Amino acid sequence: MPTTPVTLPGDVVDLVRQAHSITVFSGAGMSAESGVPTFRDAQTGLWERYDPAALATVDAWDNDPALVWGWYLWRMKLVGDAQPNPGHRAITALADHRTVMVVTQNVDDLHERAGSNVISHLHGSLFEPRCSGCSAPYHGTGTRLPDGFDITSYTEPPRIDPPSCRECQSPVRPGVVWFGEALPRGAWQRAEHAISGSDLVLVIGTSGIVYPAAELPERALAAGTPVIEFNIDESALSPYVTRSVRTSAAVGLPALLDALGE
Ligand code: OAD
Repeated sequence: MPTTPVTLPGDVVDLVRQAHSITVFSGAGMSAESGVPTFRDAQTGLWERYDPAALATVDAWDNDPALVWGWYLWRMKLVGDAQPNPGHRAITALADHRTVMVVTQNVDDLHERAGSNVISHLHGSLFEPRCSGCSAPYHGTGTRLPDGFDITSYTEPPRIDPPSCRECQSPVRPGVVWFGEALPRGAWQRAEHAISGSDLVLVIGTSGIVYPAAELPERALAAGTPVIEFNIDESALSPYVTRSVRTSAAVGLPALLDALGE
């Protein structure tokens, strides 16, 4: 991962300079330098260490809610302890001089804590648990790990029984989208609207293999809208995008601001 300053290609900077309305489409790589693990990176990715079928599906929840709830509490704590990185902050600053709409696949809140207005959390949010029966939002205290739990050790997350809904007593579930579930309709519609109303799309730190989310940059390209990717590696979108910048989010995005003179 590059940690030294990068110089961005002039045509990339020009595309951003000319844009009036930008959609930022982010994935797990956006938060990697905040210490939040991605899903598919070798060794450190969550799906390298944990089985998505046992933790991120409705069947997993039905089979073992305590295992699933404990794993999501562990992730909430990990994200809660993390801070936005310079990439998140650069996206916020980019909005000082043009419209920037953030559409994220991330379930963390680091864009928001950096000051960005996220118009769409396509895959939900770790911080919006809801009732698995009646969908009422849950605002209770049952979202904390036991005191003294060491989140830095990558051992098995704790098994914790989910709290019960105050309205209907069903178990409270994480407010995220699991494999096989539909995306929240409003989040998808806002994302579609952002993409079709933008004159540039910045794709940051996503493998681009999870659909329908990955359809969004494809739609932009089909409509003739330039798409610039920031990723430390080749992604599934790299062969198709207008320009790929091989840099990390926390290095490349501040470098972009510098090059713009902002
Ligand atoms: P992935 O883990 O699939 O991909 C992360 C991407 O970020 C890879 O392309 C990396 O090369 C890149 N990357 C890693 N570190 C980076 C950095 N510091 N700067 C820039 N790029 C970096 O994560 P997503 O694409 O977000 O869905 O995964 C998509 C969806 O799959 C997630 O939202 C989640 C997961 O299963 C659900 O949970 C529904």
